[in-house]
Amino acid sequence: MARGSEALIRSEADLLAHDDAIDRAVCGMSLAGPEKTRLAAEGAHDPTPTPYFVLQQLFEHFSFDDRSHLLDVGCNTGRVLAHFLREGYPGRATGVELDPQLAQVAQSWVAGHPNLRVLQDNVLGLDLSEYTDFYLFNPFDASVLVQFIEAVEAQVEHPATVVHMSDNGDTWWYLGRPGWSEMDSGKIQHYRNARGFPVTIYEDPQHFTVWRFDPAAR
Ligand SMILES: C[S@@+](CC[C@H](N)C(=O)[O-])C[C@H]1O[C@@H](n2cnc3c(N)ncnc32)[C@H](O)[C@@H]1O
Repeated sequence: MARGSEALIRSEADLLAHDDAIDRAVCGMSLAGPEKTRLAAEGAHDPTPTPYFVLQQLFEHFSFDDRSHLLDVGCNTGRVLAHFLREGYPGRATGVELDPQLAQVAQSWVAGHPNLRVLQDNVLGLDLSEYTDFYLFNPFDASVLVQFIEAVEAQVEHPATVVHMSDNGDTWWYLGRPGWSEMDSGKIQHYRNARGFPVTIYEDPQHFTVWRFDPAAR
């Protein structure tokens, strides 16, 4: 998908079609999956991909270098890994996905990209010590989130950046915890095409927060 085609986006449907075309160009397949999770009983939220324009905006908060290792917490079919690949960032990216069917789709297209990896697992079962950066797009309910934050605190021994998108209300679970500093926050509701035309993507503004976790600051 040519980058100049953004001018043609005038509706949410246009944006979805545009993002789908990028998926196909980058991954060789559509990343569209089911709308509803089968794993709500385990605290999982629906497998909605982050739009590329949101990833472009939010990934400015990461500073990747050759030693970076990003974990996409709840990777669905791999949209975030596709963005990582498309942008040519240095370092590596791993996605972890609880749902085996979704993980299998992501694993099928990342094969052959040595800087990408997909694990079918519960993030709470991973060794988090190797990751320098974390991305979350509304993956799970608060009880799982608190366990994830505690796992980061217990295992990550270097400064790490966490970008939590669509954290409506979830900010409160990080606030006041030793070692965590809020670097930025904001809201995303509209896409603006190349001519400045605003397209409403979310009925309600989606809040995001950027955190720096520094174990030495505890
Ligand atoms: C809203 S989607 C985000 C997809 C992707 N990160 C993106 O931004 O395009 C959330 C995903 O998290 C997965 N998930 C939920 N709980 C999980 C857990 N404990 N471990 C790993 N993945 C989980 C869900 O199955 C779902 O696919």
